Amino acid sequence: MMENHSLESSLLGGDDHARRRRWTKAILYFSLFIILAFLRYTGSGGKIRVGNAHNVHRQIAGADIVESSKGVVAADDGRCSEIGASMLRKGGHAVDAAVATALCVGVVNPMASGIGGGAFMIVHSTSTNQTVAFDMRETAPLAASEDMYSNDLNTKYEGALSMGVPGELAGLHEAWLTFGRLPWNDLFKPAIKLAKEGFIVEPYLALSIFNSGESILSDPGLRSVFAPNGRLLQAGDTCHNIELGRTLEAIANNGPKIFYIGDIGKKLVKDVRNAGGILTFEDLRDYRVVVTDPISVNTMGYTILGMPPPSSGTVALSLVLNILDSYESLNAAKGAIGLHRLIESLKHTLAVRMNLGDPKFVDINNTISNMLSHSFAKQLQQKIFDNTTFPSDYYLPRWSQLDDHGTSHFCIVDGDRNAVSMTTTVNYPFGAKILSQSTGIILNNEMGDFSVPTEIGDQLPPAPTNFIKPNKRPLSSMTPIVVLKNDQLVAVIGGSGGLYILEAVIQVFLNYFAMGMDPLAAVQNPRVYHKLIPNTVLYENWTVIDGDHIELAEERKKFLEERGHQMEAKKGGAICQLIVQTITDDYDDVNQMGRKYGKPSSNDKRFAHGVLTAVSDPRKDGRPAAV
Ligand SMILES: *[C@@H]1O[C@H](CO)[C@@H](O)[C@H](O)[C@H]1NC(C)=O
Ligand SMILES: *[C@@H]1O[C@H](CO)[C@@H](O)[C@H](O)[C@H]1NC(C)=O
Ligand SMILES: *[C@@H]1O[C@H](CO)[C@@H](O)[C@H](O)[C@H]1NC(C)=O
Ligand SMILES: *[C@@H]1O[C@H](CO)[C@@H](O)[C@H](O)[C@H]1NC(C)=O
Repeated sequence: MMENHSLESSLLGGDDHARRRRWTKAILYFSLFIILAFLRYTGSGGKIRVGNAHNVHRQIAGADIVESSKGVVAADDGRCSEIGASMLRKGGHAVDAAVATALCVGVVNPMASGIGGGAFMIVHSTSTNQTVAFDMRETAPLAASEDMYSNDLNTKYEGALSMGVPGELAGLHEAWLTFGRLPWNDLFKPAIKLAKEGFIVEPYLALSIFNSGESILSDPGLRSVFAPNGRLLQAGDTCHNIELGRTLEAIANNGPKIFYIGDIGKKLVKDVRNAGGILTFEDLRDYRVVVTDPISVNTMGYTILGMPPPSSGTVALSLVLNILDSYESLNAAKGAIGLHRLIESLKHTLAVRMNLGDPKFVDINNTISNMLSHSFAKQLQQKIFDNTTFPSDYYLPRWSQLDDHGTSHFCIVDGDRNAVSMTTTVNYPFGAKILSQSTGIILNNEMGDFSVPTEIGDQLPPAPTNFIKPNKRPLSSMTPIVVLKNDQLVAVIGGSGGLYILEAVIQVFLNYFAMGMDPLAAVQNPRVYHKLIPNTVLYENWTVIDGDHIELAEERKKFLEERGHQMEAKKGGAICQLIVQTITDDYDDVNQMGRKYGKPSSNDKRFAHGVLTAVSDPRKDGRPAAV
């Protein structure tokens, strides 16, 4: 139904530019189909499985999904997916592709991420059966303090004081040192070209520029890039960030030291301090990436690998899935009653997760082990009733919720089945709403993700485990994950959209693994969200940027209302990217959905190379790319 709709809207809807783009897209995919079909026909295409007629139809309609046996990239921008795929074609590791993709996203979607921000990255190396978590999240500057915002809370969210020490570049470099195969310099070329020669403003960026129009016009740096002639850039315009191009060039040639202990850093610090910030050269020099084991969650027959705190994402996902898993069967998560149980599980989990913080500063061991524990989940499940929901205080929340704004996610799987799941952010759109003019870098406003004593968010006190300390990392909802079954890679998932990320990632996981939806439907299916306070279910009912309408079914809404849920329509939500691997032959372990997953065996088929399907969320105008 969705597919028909998007085909219709692609033929009828949109302005001339968008229509041209769609036709170009259609022609491109049709040519691709002919080539792939030919390869398959002549038998030279190896294990490439061309989509059946239905899939090809979907590709023409929205291009939100691609298949390949050789490698795929699902970013929230088609150009960046393609740049990532080009690195895989050169023989790069998934991490090489991730560096190039992240740099690209930082240029063409600068409201969402960039080297002025931070990120979480999960890398699963199939050949060594090893998973590494790279925590490149921003830290509080050395001069930061618990009550630094007590005079003016606004400065926690906007302006140079809201900036944390940027970590993304250090993290990308660390991951590349561990796994990269291509020269560092080569990974930067596409992003440098986009920044210096200019790129087309896509509708999603245009909307963001429009929404932040006032801030852009009032900051000389942002204005010079996003309103160069005094008029805000619109979709179809060309955007240049020459200074960022030069900065990236310097980092490509000299490595990250020119940023953390060199000239770029000096320029950045100067701009930040001129704007009233407290960042110092020492802050940059002392920044360290945390390289650590992932959190490993065993639930519903899968192993989910994700970030440990200060990300609350993986342990929260663990608790929700364990609650649902503690019903008699996975069928408990299906249908309207399944949706009610999911919402109740989310409400319990939100209450618990605000006890988390940066484990280097606060003791959260009990909270973590509870959130990973099946017996703790069972106790909460026994407090869920199928006939009713409860007021917020039933779930025993102690601290106000963190309302963060994680903003770009991509998934990558390469030919060796190494996988990257990375969520990157500058926190709010355009971060601190300041662009450093001497470097072209947008400052993050990640300090906004700390709790502070004077801020009463939702009637509850702020969470002390998340108070500011120099060098501390703020709590996050970003949830990049890799999913294994019998040691085989079966999915890579993540999303952007703040608090809603973890709720969306859980729903995509359940849609695919418990409901048996196909990958596109698993991402596209209408979602619900909850913040615990107010005690309201937010459900999707909106028309997204490409013209697709996403709306929770009326009967679902009624079913939830009958159980006492306050329902409120939401025009927006998280953006999720998904890659799945399905193994269609040679393996004999069939799960209850009828999908086959590889099983390690004694011969060289220890690691399966199945078909990879990549989906970029149709809610944003991104597209995936295949090798
Ligand atoms: C892969 O690693 C996991 C966790 O470390 C381990 O349990 C498993 O036995 C390993 N599998 C293979 C095939 O080496
Ligand atoms: C929490 O757990 C970690 C890892 O297991 C351990 O190193 C640390 O000592 C524990 N902290 C406390 C306060 O028990
Ligand atoms: C829900 O069911 C329980 C028993 O399972 C009952 O005690 C309770 O009164 C019911 N609540 C409502 C609102 O119907
Ligand atoms: C969604 O919104 C439309 C109008 O914008 C309304 O007619 C429709 O009833 C809504 N659907 C639900 C499930 O609320």
